[in-house]
Amino acid sequence: MSTTRAQPDNYVVIGNPIAHSKSPAIHARFAELTAQAIDYQRLLAPLDSFVATVQTFIASGGKGANVTVPFKLEAFTLATELTPRAQAAGAVNTLKFDNGNILGDNTDGIGLVTDIIHNAGYSLRGKRVVLLGAGGAARGALLPLLQEQPAQLLIANRTVSRAQELLALAQEMSNGIDLQACRFEDLQGSADIIINATSASLHDDVPPFSPTLFSPQTLAYDMMYAAQPTAFLRLASSHGAQCRDGLGMLVEQAAAAFALWRGVRPQTTIVLADMRVAMQARS
Ligand code: ATR
Repeated sequence: MSTTRAQPDNYVVIGNPIAHSKSPAIHARFAELTAQAIDYQRLLAPLDSFVATVQTFIASGGKGANVTVPFKLEAFTLATELTPRAQAAGAVNTLKFDNGNILGDNTDGIGLVTDIIHNAGYSLRGKRVVLLGAGGAARGALLPLLQEQPAQLLIANRTVSRAQELLALAQEMSNGIDLQACRFEDLQGSADIIINATSASLHDDVPPFSPTLFSPQTLAYDMMYAAQPTAFLRLASSHGAQCRDGLGMLVEQAAAAFALWRGVRPQTTIVLADMRVAMQARS
């Protein structure tokens, strides 16, 4: 008796540049673990042709896409329907194509929160949480963070007006949470969880906050990841804090996208462990 293998459904990650993306490897592992027939490739879009690139992919039968730098705002505009978390983020990292409909989601923030709670084992409920940065990465994290009901959320940024804009958004999304916006230099006391959503780590830089924020119970989380600890995590570690980089966030945002597309949530623990080993081996 012969068996016919199902034709795989096609997915891509679209960005510019895109050659560095780890998403194909992550989704290939998820597909294996869940026995889903998918094909997931990198797709480089010219900087001025994101929409045309997506439309060509849809026309070829594509079922969904992840969207990365610099197209998350264009993806937000292109979507014909948005999830509440994409609406709150003002940006889209996941598209699902269905009969002419383009659903836009944002799984970055839920990826962060899932990694903190389920992989690192820290609760956010009732905690003092500090969010460093007020750009797209910080905004994407806002709603999922607030949904965990921390006691306090302090948003600190170099340009304080951007922190205040994020504060205004946060105030629309929550109640009963003490929300504040300030400069890095104005942060005082210790934090239960401090999340670096600035891009300072790209320049091996750390925002100028007081290291009294770190205690041995503090979880210091950098959304960036690299084979070696970022400057933020080196500082946190030297002050005795618990450290975690953004590799788990990367895997968890991918898992949330996979679940949206396929209706099944992959196991992430083994995939994250494999990614860690591969990253160390390449360094
Ligand atoms: P992303 O999408 O990665 O969030 P972004 O929207 O350009 O990118 O935001 C970058 C964030 O990192 C901002 O909060 C930025 O601060 P400003 O709003 O003042 O520009 C912050 N940032 C970048 N480099 C920094 C540095 N060297 N020190 C502190 N903050 C930095």
